[in-house]
Amino acid sequence: MKKTVVVILAAGKSKRMNSEVPKVLHPICGRPMLNYVLDLAEAVKPDKIIVVLGYKYKEVKKLLKPKIKIVIQKKLLGTADAVKRTKALLKDFTGDVLVLYADNPLLRKETIKGLVNYHKENASDATLLTTEVKDPQGYGRVIRDKYASICKVVEEGDANELQKRIKEINTGIICFKAKKLFQVIRSIKLNKRKKEYYLTDTIGLLYQTGALIDSFKLSDPEEALGINSRNELALANKIMQRRINAEIMKKGVNIIDPESTFINYGTKIGRDTTIYPFTVIESNVKIGKRCRIGPFIHLREGTRIQDDVVAGNFLEVVRSQIADKTEAKHFSYLGDCFIGRSVNIGAGTIIANFDGKRKNKTIIKDKAFIGSGTILIAPVKVGRQAITGAGAVVVKKRDVPDRTIVVGVPARPLRRINAEE
Ligand code: UD1
Ligand code: CA
Repeated sequence: MKKTVVVILAAGKSKRMNSEVPKVLHPICGRPMLNYVLDLAEAVKPDKIIVVLGYKYKEVKKLLKPKIKIVIQKKLLGTADAVKRTKALLKDFTGDVLVLYADNPLLRKETIKGLVNYHKENASDATLLTTEVKDPQGYGRVIRDKYASICKVVEEGDANELQKRIKEINTGIICFKAKKLFQVIRSIKLNKRKKEYYLTDTIGLLYQTGALIDSFKLSDPEEALGINSRNELALANKIMQRRINAEIMKKGVNIIDPESTFINYGTKIGRDTTIYPFTVIESNVKIGKRCRIGPFIHLREGTRIQDDVVAGNFLEVVRSQIADKTEAKHFSYLGDCFIGRSVNIGAGTIIANFDGKRKNKTIIKDKAFIGSGTILIAPVKVGRQAITGAGAVVVKKRDVPDRTIVVGVPARPLRRINAEE
């Protein structure tokens, strides 16, 4: 089969986003938009991936693996100009070039693989990924001749009233025969209105040379969503969240209300765990089996929850580990701590992990019982089967020995616990 190179266009600023941050770095469910598109590129098993960067490229570059080729587009002169920048890297290349836009993160891998296979099977010169949408505003319209063959793409701003009514849009994703692409790309003229060279103008030019142009139709227009504004970003988040939650439920997790459950990309959750509504789970979080999570809980980065844990309402956890069968049911903050098995964290327990300069660690050993309203000032350790009384303030470095009850402010040992207790 002919070789494939993927070119990802990611140079754009974020004018319509009104942001200092390059558009492709804006996160969707906790993950930069560009990463989803990199996954799409990988899915077609290409011989090479080239990413065109421009606006704040040093920041964007950090996301890219070393094997990915980078081309810098200094002046943002449009999508055709961006593709032109890759020419030097593709000098003798005779395979196919798949162009992906970094602001199209909702496309599915199967769609992209389908497009590339279809393009190759038919030995087309160009295959556009198109779809029909109810509201085509903002997208390039696909124009067909009297034989229903694609003859050009017209951008929204250049379309006449009749063309504007066309519901078939260009998703932006096009697969080209490399030779044909670079043959016509030189002839593209500057669009005077936008002061840009449009990649979509290749289609009109190819048509004039009698090239074989085809389309691969996307059945679910939701996938085509291009992110140009904060509104579209919010919509993309919603769609991606639905997909993530559906994927998690497929793995045997019970999500009571997916619409009010916000779980970032990459979260691992074990079978038969139940997630109650109004749960927010950020990136880099792992949860074991048969847990009860929420409602109203905020699990932040570095949270590791093992099996059979109950993490209840109004709880915030960050950079912490909670071992099997521990319960923390009501109103607590647990930061930078290691909590053993079968520990009871009483209502209103607060770990004071930050001393104004540093985040300090707290260790709570197996079967400890932390009384309601306890404040643990880190760094501190609470021993195995130790107990803190309600309202105790355990001061830093005044560790609580195993099987000891401490009470008061500051917490003092009351007595040891007998073996049979
Ligand atoms: C583009 C298509 C339009 C399609 C729509 C789908 C063109 C001319 N139009 O419009 O037909 O319906 O996408 O979402 O291609 N970029 C660069 N360098 C540049 C300009 C853009 O790398 O000089 C990158 C951007 O970062 C972005 C992508 O190319 O990832 C698309 O650019 P954008 O300006 O968003 O194009 P649209 O107006 O959305
Ligand atoms: Ca766009």
